[in-house]
Amino acid sequence: MTTETRHFLRDDDITAAEQREILELALAFRKDRHLEQPFAGPQAVAIIFDKPSTRTRVSFSTGVAELGGYPLVIDSATSQLGRGEPVADTARVLERMVSAIVWRTFGQELIEEMAAHSSKPVVNALTDSFHPCQILADLAAVADARGGVDALAGLTLAYVGDGANNMAHSYLLGGALAGMHVRVGAPADYLPDERIVLDAKKIAAEQGGSITVTTEHDDAVAGADIICTDTWVSMGDEDQYAARADVFGGYQVNQHSLDIANEGAQVLHCLPAYRGKEITADVIDGPQSLVWLEAEYRLHAQKALLAWLARR
Ligand code: CP
Ligand code: NVA
Repeated sequence: MTTETRHFLRDDDITAAEQREILELALAFRKDRHLEQPFAGPQAVAIIFDKPSTRTRVSFSTGVAELGGYPLVIDSATSQLGRGEPVADTARVLERMVSAIVWRTFGQELIEEMAAHSSKPVVNALTDSFHPCQILADLAAVADARGGVDALAGLTLAYVGDGANNMAHSYLLGGALAGMHVRVGAPADYLPDERIVLDAKKIAAEQGGSITVTTEHDDAVAGADIICTDTWVSMGDEDQYAARADVFGGYQVNQHSLDIANEGAQVLHCLPAYRGKEITADVIDGPQSLVWLEAEYRLHAQKALLAWLARR
């Protein structure tokens, strides 16, 4: 275990300047997929899944391969981790063999424990609390679509839907770091964790942005440049499907959202999307949707992050 190792467990594990560096590198990787090969050898990167995934699995696997490395994808259900082997013991073994550990899991405390026992960088590929790699991709896609990373600061980003989920929390921290005005519109029982809102407000004050949390869709979205949403039922919440469908109806991203947002507003969704629920088909499949570029940027942004971590 070392104290110097840098991990990426939540969006504010990097500074604003470091976020900018990673986003610039992500745009560069889109132009040249083989720009850097930090894992040439090849060195292995463990990519562990405790929950389902399409984009994260494919983008990390492809990304590690393009960085010259070997993507070691582990389904935890078929590993000893899935049978209860301690996280710390898993970290102690993996750090001797791989160059980085990427993990999609449940509680944030689990990935913190992995990082505490790993001398190799640990990257959060989604927990119940945060999805920071997704927000790097989202910011990079918006930057690319708007002429560069300089375009991000000052934009108003509105997220509507489940304000208590991983995406909402990561937009708060990651958007604040980018100097954005971040608004979250969510039902009263699904507001973001107050500690994360406070952290985001502190970052926003330093970076010239702001944080607004409201229970009104229209207050969040009016005049926004970027409109974001996510599934109303995250992985692990499936037993609450019926109750959630009743509560979230007023937070759908639809034509009305576009009508009250800024002209030329762009729409993000991390996917998978449920058309007719959190977003209408005409919006996600329409001209203001950035979701396919956003999905592509999972590859470029995570390569940038891994290459950046490998330099530390
Ligand atoms: N957006 C995202 O993380 O997608 P997957 O669940 O398919 O990885
Ligand atoms: N909030 C969603 C994101 C999926 C990528 C979930 O956790 O299921």
